[in-house]
Amino acid sequence: MATLGVNIDHIANVRQARQTVEPDPVQFAFLAELGGADSITVHLREDRRHIQDRDIFLLKETIKTKLNLEMAATDEMLEISKKLLPDFVTLVPEKREEITTEGGLDVKNNQKYLKDFVNSLKSSNIEVSAFIDPVTDQISSSGEIGFDFIELHTGKYADLKGEEQYVELQKIIESTYNATDLGLVVNAGHGLNYQNVQKIASINNINELNIGHSIVARALAVGLEKAVREMKSLISKN
Ligand code: PXP
Repeated sequence: MATLGVNIDHIANVRQARQTVEPDPVQFAFLAELGGADSITVHLREDRRHIQDRDIFLLKETIKTKLNLEMAATDEMLEISKKLLPDFVTLVPEKREEITTEGGLDVKNNQKYLKDFVNSLKSSNIEVSAFIDPVTDQISSSGEIGFDFIELHTGKYADLKGEEQYVELQKIIESTYNATDLGLVVNAGHGLNYQNVQKIASINNINELNIGHSIVARALAVGLEKAVREMKSLISKN
């Protein structure tokens, strides 16, 4: 059964809208854990538009599950992650003007740079994941570089409907098997919600699903703890 990583960036989005101290993502991480989150994911963006440095250091001290730090592969982020020592780091591409992460990391065309980056994190005992599109070349390059995990980008699957969505789902299934054969542990995420999660959760060998927006949206109606519990229950029905 897949586990659930809850992304709490949106809690920080609400706080930053007023540049104040509430709602505090650290408190909401606690509620997510009570609802059954298996890990807490935060994306420290270069422009600090939501999660702040203070959040990640407090989360590291207070959460009882695992901390997954999403970040761009930059010198600044390398330095911060080596101070923080999260349980794992997920490397994502980052563009300042994007609303959320668009597309996967181009591992294939940045092998030398990423290999050094991954080795540096691993030398601090941090496990490393690459957020990539379900594409054969990106998977094989991730295996060659020595990533521990990949996170398959499910955004396209989430946006499509009908036959096109089915085709994208097959790509995700095939990618999961290919990556597993290479010794990679396979996570998935982006755009997953209460309607589309089960087809992804039922893929054999999917380790963890990272979900943020739909859970925080549901939490506005029922509270975060219950929203996480409902998502966990959908994932575990497979
Ligand atoms: N995985 C990665 C790498 C992401 O960047 C995000 C969005 O921050 C997510 C998962 C969660 O996506 P969503 O908020 O659409 O559930």
